[in-house]
Amino acid sequence: YLQKAQETEKEIGILGGSGFDDPTLFNNQTENDVTTPFGKPSDVLIEGQISGVPCALLARHGRKHQYQPSDVNYRANIWALKQVGCTHVLATTATGSLVEHYKPGDLVVLDDFIDRTWGRRCTFYDRTEGGPKGVCHLPMRPAFCEKARRALIEAANAKGYLCHEKGTAVVIQGPRFSSRAESLMHRQWGGHLVNMTTVPEVVLAKEAGLSYAAVALVTDYDCWRENETSVSVSEVLAMFAKNVKKAADVILDAVQILAAEADHTYLESHKELVSSAVMLKE
Ligand code: ADE
Repeated sequence: YLQKAQETEKEIGILGGSGFDDPTLFNNQTENDVTTPFGKPSDVLIEGQISGVPCALLARHGRKHQYQPSDVNYRANIWALKQVGCTHVLATTATGSLVEHYKPGDLVVLDDFIDRTWGRRCTFYDRTEGGPKGVCHLPMRPAFCEKARRALIEAANAKGYLCHEKGTAVVIQGPRFSSRAESLMHRQWGGHLVNMTTVPEVVLAKEAGLSYAAVALVTDYDCWRENETSVSVSEVLAMFAKNVKKAADVILDAVQILAAEADHTYLESHKELVSSAVMLKE
């Protein structure tokens, strides 16, 4: 019985960090300085219970925001969350909008991505010692966990926040923003949003067999609109600060929704998908 209980024990990782600074949020809060076969995550993991549900909070860019998007150790971040027992990861991300009707301040639960990053470590299957063995060709449709997406959407709707149920994020390498021609091209490609971190995060979470979903906060219109200047850091930071509490609220309610879900077959499916995608395991 004990083993069965452990098998279905859920722990939710929260990636993003900003907006979760309420010191009374966690019960039995501890700081866990984790090391992984892939190096150190961006910061310590804050662990404890949120309304009775085990959770682990990690600041993607470090609590001092010391890592730029191309320098974040995405592998260590995801592995660390998995290592402490997370079955799910819910993420927040600041994004620019590529379409008129996704407005600054809106929330979007991402459902797909276009990868424009380069040079980032985007697989655990590279024969790192202590890492998994074999060659992994993981399907990316769907890119995000539908159960976790639904939990975020349900939470946002219950709160009455304006939330779009779908969105394709074009993930650029950064640290610079897009040129106008790039921004127009991203629109033509069918992108709805642009950011710098969803890849490889979503890919690695999938490789790790985790349930992963992300709520994007629209901070700006990038630079594609006529008669407007380019996005700026001050604009992004101000819009993010103003609305991040909404994204955090949605995640906190989604944690409860996922914890209450009795059917765990989707978690098994995530793991089975990975094992069926790995060749040459020995
Ligand atoms: N993050 C927030 N806004 C962005 C933009 N316009 N481009 C890339 N990343 C972003």
